[in-house]
Amino acid sequence: MVSPLVILIASLGVAALALVLSLRIRRNRLDTAKLSYPPGPKVAAMPILDAWVEYRDWGNIYGDLIYLPEWNTLITNNAEVAVDLLEKRARIYSDRSMTPIMKLCGGENLLSVECYSEKWRRDRRVFQQTFRQAAVSQFYPSQYNKVHEFLRNLVSAPDSFLEHIQRLSQGLVFKSLYGLEIGPEDPLAKKAISIVGTFARALLSGGFPTYELFPWLIYLPSWFPGCEFKRVAAQCGKIVEEVDTVPFNIAMNNLKDGICTSPIAELAVQKPEDLQEIKAMGTMSFIAASDTTMSSISSFLLAMCMHPDVQAKAQEEIDRVIGRDRLPTFEDRRSLPYVEAVYREVMRLDPPIPLGFPHVSTEDDFYRGYYIPKGRFALWISFGCSVVANIWAINRDPNVYSEPDKFMPERYTNSPMGPFENIDNIYAYGFGRRVCAGRYMADNTVWLTVASVLAAFTLEKTKDENGNEIPITGEMTDLFFRHPRPYKSSITPRSHLAGELVLATADH
Ligand code: HEM
Repeated sequence: MVSPLVILIASLGVAALALVLSLRIRRNRLDTAKLSYPPGPKVAAMPILDAWVEYRDWGNIYGDLIYLPEWNTLITNNAEVAVDLLEKRARIYSDRSMTPIMKLCGGENLLSVECYSEKWRRDRRVFQQTFRQAAVSQFYPSQYNKVHEFLRNLVSAPDSFLEHIQRLSQGLVFKSLYGLEIGPEDPLAKKAISIVGTFARALLSGGFPTYELFPWLIYLPSWFPGCEFKRVAAQCGKIVEEVDTVPFNIAMNNLKDGICTSPIAELAVQKPEDLQEIKAMGTMSFIAASDTTMSSISSFLLAMCMHPDVQAKAQEEIDRVIGRDRLPTFEDRRSLPYVEAVYREVMRLDPPIPLGFPHVSTEDDFYRGYYIPKGRFALWISFGCSVVANIWAINRDPNVYSEPDKFMPERYTNSPMGPFENIDNIYAYGFGRRVCAGRYMADNTVWLTVASVLAAFTLEKTKDENGNEIPITGEMTDLFFRHPRPYKSSITPRSHLAGELVLATADH
C-alpha cells in the first residue's frame, strides 16, 4: 500500500517537472520568435562559374554574413568572421557534409571530406605524423629532385611549361611518399587526376544540381533519366580504391625486394595497425596536392611575365644574397624577404581553391546577433549548414589590402609584421581544425620553385613574327580549382652560366 505522503511528494515532483518543461518550451518559443537569420538573396540555383565573384558582390549588398536558406549555406567574405567561426569556434564548425553522393565517390576514408569524428581525428593524426612542420624536411631530397627536373625541362622545352608544372606537381607526391617515378602520362596518374574534379563537384553546393534538388534519385538505378551522376560517382569510388592500393603495393614490394625505401612503406612497417589510414593518406595527398600545387606555380609564372619589375627586384635580391653560381636552397629562405613576399602575394591573389572546402556546423549558433542554424531541412534533405569562407574575396578585402587587385609584394616587405608571418596567415590554406594538412610541404614546394625559377630564368611575354609583344590577358579558370588559362610566354635561362647550373643538377 503506497502511503499518501509518497503520493503527495510524487505529485509535487511531477508538477514541478511539468512547470520547468513548460517554462523551457515557452522560453524556446520566445527565443525562436526572436531568431534572426543573416540576410541573403533568394536563389533557385547556386552560381557555379566564378562563384567567388558573385559571393563577393552579395557581400557588398548584405554584409559580412550572407545566408541562403534554400541551400542552408552561410557565406562570408570577411577574414574576422572566418576566423571567429571556423577557428575560434572550431568545435562546432569543423564537420563536412558526408552526403550519399560523397560516399558513392569513395569519400568516406578521405580526410578532406570525412565527417568530424573519431575516425577523422585518427586519420588526421596519422597524416600529421608525416606532414607536420617538424617532419617535412624528409621531403627535401624529393623536392630538390623534382624542382630541378622542372628547371631542366624548362631549359629543354620552355614552351611546354604547363606540362612541366603538371609533371612536377603530380610527380612529387609519388616520388616523396612512395619513392616512385610516375609522370602525368602514366595511366594511374591520369585516373587519379580524373577523380579530383568529381570530388570538387560533390563538395560544392550546385555541383550535382539534379541530385541536390531531388536527393531521392540516389535510390534509383543509374540508367534512370537524371541519374547519370550515380555513374560518375561510382566510377570515382572505384578509382579511389585503385589509387589506394596500386602505388602502395609497388612501394611495399620495392621495400621488400630491397629496390628502394619510401616514407609510406616505412610507416606501414612501423605501424601495421594504421595500415588503412596510411594507404588513405597516400591517395589523399595525391588528390589534395596535384591541382593546388600546379595552380600556385602557374599563377607565379604568369605573375612574373606580367610584372617584369617585380621579377627584376626579386632577382636582384637573389644575386646579392646568394650570388649567381648556385641555385637557392631551403637554408636561404630567411635571407630572401622579397622572394618570400612574391610567394605570399601569389598565394593572396590567386588562392588555388578560392572558396576553400565548406565547413559544416554541428550545433545551432548565435553570432553578431544572428542565428546560424545547424542542420536544417533544405529541399527534402538536411545538408547541415555549410559555411563557406570566400578566400578569394577575403584576400582582396579593400579594408585590409590597399589596391587589392594589384600584384604588389611590397605590401609584405613594408608591413610591420614583415613577409615571414606565420603560415596560418596564408588563408589560401584554409581555416581552423580543417586547415590544409599538407600546407608545410606545399609551402616548401611552391617556395623552392619560386626561388629557383627566379634564380635561373627570365620570364617574358613572347613576340609574334613581326616582333610585336603578344599580350597576356591573365585569364583564370572559373570552377572549384582556379588556375591560369593556357597562355604563351618566353622562358629563357638568365645567362649561359644559369643554364649550365640548371643542367648540372642532373648529375646530383
Ligand atoms: C598550394 C598548395 C595547397 C593549397 C593552396 C591547399 C589548400 C587547401 C585548402 C583550402 C583546404 C581546405 C581547408 C579548410 O577546410 O579550411 C585543404 C585541405 C587539405 N589539404 Fe591542402 N592545399 C595545398 C596542398 C596540399 C598538399 C601538398 C597536401 C598533402 C600532401 C594537402 C593536403 C590536404 C588535406 C589532407 C586537406 C584536408 C584537411 C581536413 O579536412 O582535415 N594539401 N588544402
